[in-house]
Amino acid sequence: MSPLKGQKLTVSVHASAGDAGAAAAEHVAGLVRPNPTAVLGLATGSSPLPLYQALQQADLNLKAVTAFALDEYVGLPAGHAQSYASVIRSQVVEPLGLTPARVHVPDGNPAEVNAVGEAYEAQILAAGGIDLQILGIGSNGHIGFNEPRSPFSSRTRVVALADRTRQDNARFFEAPEAVPTHAVTQGLATIFQARHLLLIAHGPGKAQAIKRALTGPVTEDVPASILQLHPSVTVYLSKAAAALL
Ligand code: F6R
Repeated sequence: MSPLKGQKLTVSVHASAGDAGAAAAEHVAGLVRPNPTAVLGLATGSSPLPLYQALQQADLNLKAVTAFALDEYVGLPAGHAQSYASVIRSQVVEPLGLTPARVHVPDGNPAEVNAVGEAYEAQILAAGGIDLQILGIGSNGHIGFNEPRSPFSSRTRVVALADRTRQDNARFFEAPEAVPTHAVTQGLATIFQARHLLLIAHGPGKAQAIKRALTGPVTEDVPASILQLHPSVTVYLSKAAAALL
């Protein structure tokens, strides 16, 4: 591990995505083993998959863990395979043995759009806050679905997805137009309140975003640059994602 900016932000570079995932899984296990009721924040998408896969090999009981997803698409029918509720269920809850009632995902079909964020924030608060937030990063530097120019003070809310994000995520849908235009996401201030942040990225497509987030100016143009201000961050990268550092 080589500290990049002082002691608080540690960057750990690995030969492959699988190795980065295994190291990140060890980190998560190191929190949960002595603290089986820990509160985790969960990212979806391809970045955390090696972590979730490696966690399956760890001898770990996650039944008492509470978890909060970072975000959810707005407007997908309940049970849609690409809704993050479905993805979290099939990729995290079922394979890792979390207790479904302890796993929360923002409501992507809220009766009252303006109330959805407040309700989710209240659930996080009632759980005592998030101990460890797992994050991926968008090629445009987003975390959660906080797109460039999201305020650092933002809380959980409905946002419009950037065109680039919809293009990036079209690979998960039958057609580019099928990617939802909006999502509910934890805000940057919500993410920042987690006691520890764990960012995982792999592949050359993330190298530029990683460079801007970790070594560029701290600016709302690059939402992930807020990590430079957080007191406790670990970044797990494949060599390809770290190539521009
Ligand atoms: C997903 C999320 C997003 C993704 C990011 C990277 O819950 O909040 O910020 O982490 O879009 O996506 P992948 O990992 O698919 O490249």
